[in-house]
Parts: sequence; C-alpha cells; structure tokens
Amino acid sequence: MKLENTIISVTGLGYVGLPIALAFAKKFQVIGFDINEERIKKMQQGIDPSGEVDAAGFEDARIEFSANPAFLKKANFHIVAVPTPIDIHTMPDLGPLLSATISVGKALKPGDYVVFESTTYPACTEEECVPLLEEISGLKMGKDFKAGFSPERINPGDKEHTLENVIKVVSGNDAEALDFIAEVYGSIVQAGIYKASSIKVAEAAKIIENTQRDLNIALMNEISMICDRLKINTFEVIQAAGTKWNFLKFTPGLVGGHCIGVDPYYLTYKAKALGHDPKVILAGRYTNDQMPGYIAKKTVQKMVKLGKNPAESRVLVLGITFKEGVSDVRNSKVAELVRELQAFSLSVDVVDPFAEKEALHEDYGLSLASEPCGVYDAIVLAVAHQPFRELENKTLQSWANFPALLVDIKGLLRTKSEGFQYWSL
Ligand SMILES: NC(=O)c1ccc[n+]([C@@H]2O[C@H](COP(=O)([O-])OP(=O)(O)OC[C@H]3O[C@@H](n4cnc5c(N)ncnc54)[C@H](O)[C@@H]3O)[C@@H](O)[C@H]2O)c1
Repeated sequence: MKLENTIISVTGLGYVGLPIALAFAKKFQVIGFDINEERIKKMQQGIDPSGEVDAAGFEDARIEFSANPAFLKKANFHIVAVPTPIDIHTMPDLGPLLSATISVGKALKPGDYVVFESTTYPACTEEECVPLLEEISGLKMGKDFKAGFSPERINPGDKEHTLENVIKVVSGNDAEALDFIAEVYGSIVQAGIYKASSIKVAEAAKIIENTQRDLNIALMNEISMICDRLKINTFEVIQAAGTKWNFLKFTPGLVGGHCIGVDPYYLTYKAKALGHDPKVILAGRYTNDQMPGYIAKKTVQKMVKLGKNPAESRVLVLGITFKEGVSDVRNSKVAELVRELQAFSLSVDVVDPFAEKEALHEDYGLSLASEPCGVYDAIVLAVAHQPFRELENKTLQSWANFPALLVDIKGLLRTKSEGFQYWSL
C-alpha cells in the first residue's frame, strides 16, 4: 500500500482514539467509528466528550464520524483503540476489544492493515484478535492483510507529553507491515518511531511501563506506612534520598483510573496462564488497593485524638477525579476513600472543579458541593488540581473547625499547615 492512498479508520473514540483520529485527519482521510451515538453526535459538532481536545483540534480535520460500522469499509488502515478493562474478579475483560475486532473484521478487504492500540497482555493480538479477524473476514493474515500493535502513551490532562512529541512504539506481523506501519505513524509523530521486533514485544513493552509505575508507587506507599510508625514525614525522606543520582523519585498516593491500576492485572493473567505466579506484581496491586482504607483509618484515628466524635464531625475532601487535571472519575480511589470515611459515620463534602458530576453520581452515588460550606473538622487534599496547589493557609483556616486535622495525601501543603494537626502519607 502507498502512503498517499491510505484511508485510516479509528474504532473507539475516547481519551486515546479521538486525539489519534484527529491527528491523522490533518494528513489523511479518516473514518472515526464509535458505538456510542451520543459521543458521535458531539464529535460531529466539534466537541470532544472527554474534554481532552479543544475546538481547534477539530479544525481542518478530514474526518467523518459515525456510529455505523459499515463506514469502516471506506478505510484500508484500521486502528482499534477501545477500552480494555478488568472485571470484578480482576480478570481481563476483552469484550470491547473483541467486539471492535468483529466490526473491523466485517469491513476487512485484501491489502488492508489493522493496528491495535488498546493496552493488552502480550500475545493477545496474535492469539485472540487476529484469529477473530481471519474468521470474520475469511482472509489470512500475512497473505491477505497485515496486522500490528502500537501501544498508546497518551497521558490525559498532560499537555506536554502529547501524541506528536512522544516516541511511538510500533510493530507488525512481518518486515513489510512493520515498515509501512512505521511510515504511517511517522507522518504524524515528530518525536520519532521505535520499531519493536515483534507484536508481542510491543505489547509487553506497554504493559511493563505501567506495571513499573504501579510497583514503584506501591513501594512508596509501603515506605509511607513505615515512616508513619517511625513518626517521620515520607516526603521529607524522599526529598533527602532524591539527592542521590540514581534514586527514582516516586511518591506515595492513590492509584486509580483505567491504566496503572488495571494493566498489571493483564500481565499477571498471562503470567499465570504460562505457569508463573507473579507475586511481586500482585503484592504491589494489593498494597495500592488498600490505601483508601488505610488513609480513612488514619484520618479517623487522628480526629478521635483531637477529641472529635466521628458521628458529629464534618470532612472536606478536595478532589475526586482519578488524578490531577482531568475530569475522569472512573475507578477513582478517592471515591473509595469517601465511602470509607462515610462508613465511620463522618459527614463528607467533596469539592472538585473538574470532575464529571453525572458520572460521579452514576458510578458512586456521590454528589459534589459547589464550594466548601461552613467549617470542617478535617480537610483532606486528595487530588493535586492546580487550584488546590495554590491554596493558602488562611483559606484552609477559614474552612476549619479548630482543632482541625489536615490530611495531605499528595504532600503539597506541608508549608501551609499552620494551626492544623497535620498528617500526610
Ligand atoms: N486513557 C489513557 O490514559 C490511556 C493511555 C494509554 C493507553 N490507554 C489504553 O487505550 C485504550 C482506550 O482507552 P481510553 O481511555 O481511550 O478509553 P475510553 O473509555 O476513553 O474510550 C473508549 C471509546 O471506545 C468506545 N467503544 C467501546 N467499545 C467499542 C466497540 N466495540 N466499538 C467501537 N467503539 C467502542 C467507547 O464508546 C468509547 O468512546 C485502552 O486499552 C486503554 O488501556 C489509555
């Protein structure tokens, strides 16, 4: 296939798929397909329902949005970027990935390319997706169509590390596929392309990036529990240790969202299937998952020590999204923390300037306060949104029912805690 004849389709237009589709649409004709008709309607009006791309991102884009999978037939280079979540047993839920694969399979023609971007376990593309493509299309990979995997490194809320300026890893089922996939992505990624030696290598590379982050944060969470018993501040310890050239500056915190806390389970699933028991990775997952309960317990213990009766006390939680600068509340560990606090009979108000209100209510039955109301016995800084980073001690004091506790999960308010009983991870 020639670059100038390439028509790209992107299936799954969420946090990952839409920015990719729009980036390609500056250079190629693009078909954007998503099963969610509401989202498609918004995108047709130049609105990103996930709030990542602004109106300018839609300008001059040669893109046709549709909820009709038959539109995929117009394209010859198909990209799949649908969610890869876990189920309640922390097992990979390949439902969206396989259903998107079926849609692409039905549209597949001889000479087409299919590139998977959804994060998944090593070997998933070749063991699950490609056989399904072959079954549905009646075509053979290698002979009739080519396949590849190119992991996504988009970081929602991060305007510095974008699709265009971060090296993109690509892979293909043979040398020709690898070269052409690299050429297609190379036309939009200025930072350059890294050609992985196989599809499995590219899949494994993505999954270890997030597993490494998860484990390093878990280590800092465990260290924070030890520092607490030592009665020293973890962030001061990390700052001191960080003066060594090879110390990795990870900090403790809540690991939520749909990547770092989820992807390691894809790897552990495959490891177990291959007969390996991934104890270290699962220990990290266990540590990170218990943090909301641990923080709630410490908060209540400190409040009781201040003479507060939990049943008569009010807590203000600052931030509920899964991380700073985004509106996404999916798998928010702060929401779990709020539930834990409520289980101790505390009355909790949550303030977040960015959080998606409807999703918060739908997923957790929680509503947001538009602003702090009255005074609180404890204030919990949970998410480092910019407006919270800028909070001053006098503002925090104006919200406090002294003696009051300041719980600083992100370690940001150490110099602004005057007048409070202060605790951080
Ligand atoms: N969001 C991130 O930070 C990030 C970063 C790197 C990689 N990833 C990976 O990228 C993939 C996509 O994640 P996301 O955050 O963009 O998800 P998302 O939930 O934001 O968006 C997914 C979109 O896919 C659509 N969809 C679901 N099933 C579909 C189907 N069968 N056919 C067509 N459309 C379908 C949904 O309607 C939705 O619009 C996942 O594998 C994720 O792990 C995400």
